[in-house]
Amino acid sequence: VQSTAPRVESGKVSRRLRRCARSNVRMLMIGDGTLLLSRSHISSLVTFKEYYDAVEAAFRSHGEGNSLSQGLLHLDSEGGEFHIKAGGLRLEHIYFGFKTNGGFYQNTRTYNLPNIIGTVALCDGVTGFPLAVMESGEITRQRTAAAAAVAAKYLARPDSKALTICGCGIQGRTQVKAMVASFPISRVFAFDVNDAQRLRFSEEVSRDLGIEVEPVEDLKRALAETDICVTCTPAHHYYVEAAHVRAGTFIAAMGADSPDKQEIDPVLLSSQKLVVDILEQCEQVGELHHAIAQGHMTRNDVHADLGQVVTGQKVGRTSANEITIFDATGTALQDVAAAAVVYKKAVARGAGTRFDFLS
Ligand SMILES: NC(=O)c1ccc[n+]([C@@H]2O[C@H](COP(=O)([O-])OP(=O)(O)OC[C@H]3O[C@@H](n4cnc5c(N)ncnc54)[C@H](O)[C@@H]3O)[C@@H](O)[C@H]2O)c1
Repeated sequence: VQSTAPRVESGKVSRRLRRCARSNVRMLMIGDGTLLLSRSHISSLVTFKEYYDAVEAAFRSHGEGNSLSQGLLHLDSEGGEFHIKAGGLRLEHIYFGFKTNGGFYQNTRTYNLPNIIGTVALCDGVTGFPLAVMESGEITRQRTAAAAAVAAKYLARPDSKALTICGCGIQGRTQVKAMVASFPISRVFAFDVNDAQRLRFSEEVSRDLGIEVEPVEDLKRALAETDICVTCTPAHHYYVEAAHVRAGTFIAAMGADSPDKQEIDPVLLSSQKLVVDILEQCEQVGELHHAIAQGHMTRNDVHADLGQVVTGQKVGRTSANEITIFDATGTALQDVAAAAVVYKKAVARGAGTRFDFLS
């Protein structure tokens, strides 16, 4: 098929966009090209509170039917996996974004590279212009902890004091900070299959946050005293057993974001109040998909999407004794909301480097 549009050299396209920039707010966003932002740019620009607010607003918008479509692609690779998450949000502008994250869990040990590694591309949702390309690890870390903290606001007991973290890696550290910022946490149990990791985490987090962090080998013992349990491991078989979770606990199940990962006993999932980030994703790659595949429940047994709870369409926790679970696969909603905050703050402060893909 031959295009009837006049052909223009890419340099001319660029000049045309710049001419429009003088008269059009959208073109002002485009400015002198695409903003490139490193991890250190991002971490110096945005606070956890800003991620938290952006993520809560994104789930609210989704619950109100105001988000654009969301999608996820899981691809296996040699020694790891790729997750591509894409979606859009109507904020003060329409933003579209996609994140390509590699998950290579030997990276740090073998290559001194992050285990989760990639980029987020943020685009103008009307013209498609690539507004920014940014490092994805910092955004993933923060927006995931923000989602757990937002879910906890609606699903955990407000007086929660004891926290168990399963998985003393990158996510585990951010999750402790998020929960300590949101609840009167005075005691943390740190569980990990790796002894050295568990001990180092306990020492460092205890020193950084000034609270008691106890490394535990016996998860059953920790769970008997736990109010909030965050699971963030790439485990392939569940280790949080139904019989070990006490009444009143909130579990944020953050680790299972691909079909072969699982952390929570499907019997527990099917018998308690289950809230998911996005139902279709959890059916595909979350804890939910194991519970359905093994015949413990159907999608109709899921209490709500988080967006429905945030908007008040569905209730959150209703008693001090119920066990509540948040199944989080990680969504483009969170990535786009977080990337938009990063982008706006970077533009305001003149941070990052411009690159003109159309030159
Ligand atoms: N839901 C989301 O939005 C989201 C976002 C980020 C990461 N994740 C997932 O969370 C998991 C952790 O990510 P990370 O960046 O912290 O990884 P990481 O490699 O930094 O840390 C993982 C930790 O889990 C420990 N571990 C592995 N298997 C275990 C087991 N069976 N029991 C106890 N501990 C175990 C490891 O020793 C390690 O300390 C991954 O599966 C990742 O894909 C999910």
